[in-house]
Amino acid sequence: MFEKKVYLQRRAALKSKINSGILLFLGNEESPMNYKDNAYHFRQDSTFLYYFGISEPSLGAIVDLDEDQVILFGDEMGIDDIVWMGRQKTLEEKSLDAGLTRVLPLAQLDTYLKQYQDKKRQVHFLPPYRSENKIKLANWLNLPIHLLKEKASLSFIKAVVAQRSIKAVEEIEELDRAAAISADIHLMVMQQAKPGMYERELAAKIQGAALASGGNLAYPVILTVRGEILHNHYHGNQLQNGQLVLNDSGVETTLGYAGDLTRTFPVGKKFSAEQKDVYDIVLNAYTHAKNLLAPGVRYLDVHLASCKMLAQGLKDIGLMKGNIDDAVQAGAHAMFFQCGTGHMMGLDVHDMEDLGEQYVGYTDELTKNTTQFGLKSLRLGKALEAGYVLTVEPGVYIIPELIDRWKAANQFAEYINYDKLEQFRNFSGIRVEDDFLVTENGNRMLGKHLALTTDEIESIRSDAY
Ligand code: GLY
Ligand code: MN
Repeated sequence: MFEKKVYLQRRAALKSKINSGILLFLGNEESPMNYKDNAYHFRQDSTFLYYFGISEPSLGAIVDLDEDQVILFGDEMGIDDIVWMGRQKTLEEKSLDAGLTRVLPLAQLDTYLKQYQDKKRQVHFLPPYRSENKIKLANWLNLPIHLLKEKASLSFIKAVVAQRSIKAVEEIEELDRAAAISADIHLMVMQQAKPGMYERELAAKIQGAALASGGNLAYPVILTVRGEILHNHYHGNQLQNGQLVLNDSGVETTLGYAGDLTRTFPVGKKFSAEQKDVYDIVLNAYTHAKNLLAPGVRYLDVHLASCKMLAQGLKDIGLMKGNIDDAVQAGAHAMFFQCGTGHMMGLDVHDMEDLGEQYVGYTDELTKNTTQFGLKSLRLGKALEAGYVLTVEPGVYIIPELIDRWKAANQFAEYINYDKLEQFRNFSGIRVEDDFLVTENGNRMLGKHLALTTDEIESIRSDAY
């Protein structure tokens, strides 16, 4: 946990943003894999972690804005828990560490919420994403589950998003650490990959190193020779000379802050000429996009600028044609780049995605009112502020099924050179990704430098043999 004063300050700042009512916080429950006592790795809810710092299951908390009191609800370990899991700090000790003075048994949360209902006091809650919390909320508030999302408190959501979006000094230290450890792991993978290995062997090294760092993975490892599959979690392919390995992986620190990095490197010592051409196109887009990051700049414009860099590069090697501005406006570049250039990052790798993309990535004035393939997947569009932490991750992905579908429909034939594209059909994909802090004057990359240019990567790959 951070120092007690961090949690006191965070709760005080939140209280000052909402006028009245009760703020309800739900921690996460253990999540069974195949039976109750065989659970997935426990991950606390990030908003709960942010305001209360306690990473253990089955907790709730209320902040009563009118009576100015904060109560943590949870149960101390019984002797059975101690027998099976060992003695740990008591909940009371942990709550004192978080600056909390009132702890009540979990069952009393029910009683409190019923009282508030009876007195018609407003209970503000955040949109639940775990089934257990959906069921609890539906019962407490007497609401059907499908209405919970729309009945969640907008003022609560907006206040949390505003606060969590601006990273404080102690958070930036954690995020720097997450990115630096992630960079070390990426380097290790680049040094150890060899033809004949299975993807899963490298994925296992990443997972092992994440655990060894004292934290965990921030999200499931994407380590694949089929880098065109954006969130590919299959690790069964054998690495072959001539292929590219796309490694998108990052750790979360002990305190829960994420790193999210991607590098793409050749299985052999060198990129082919074709691979190098496409890599440099992606790297140009990355460099152009990250140099634009500064307060006041809309990330939508960063994204569009990065798409244009990609499209221009693809035109230069004959895969696209025509007017690049028009092509990007029409969405033709999405044949090669089907997602957004980046996203907010913090306690969640896609920070606060549970609270709603409209509030995290957009504003009342800049809503994401598009269904355009590609642009609809941009999670962040709004103007940046100093203290935001986000990723920049352009890529080029050649998806055979997409080629077939668009070609059959003659889609964007004025912008896409389908004959040339057929030669790239089995190219796979390239992504480059780093994490950035928006500063008063511009931006700073988090963590440490990790081999980025084809020369830097080839030098590491040559040493690997
Ligand atoms: N690293 C996975 C993602 O950003 O979606
Ligand atoms: Mn990412």
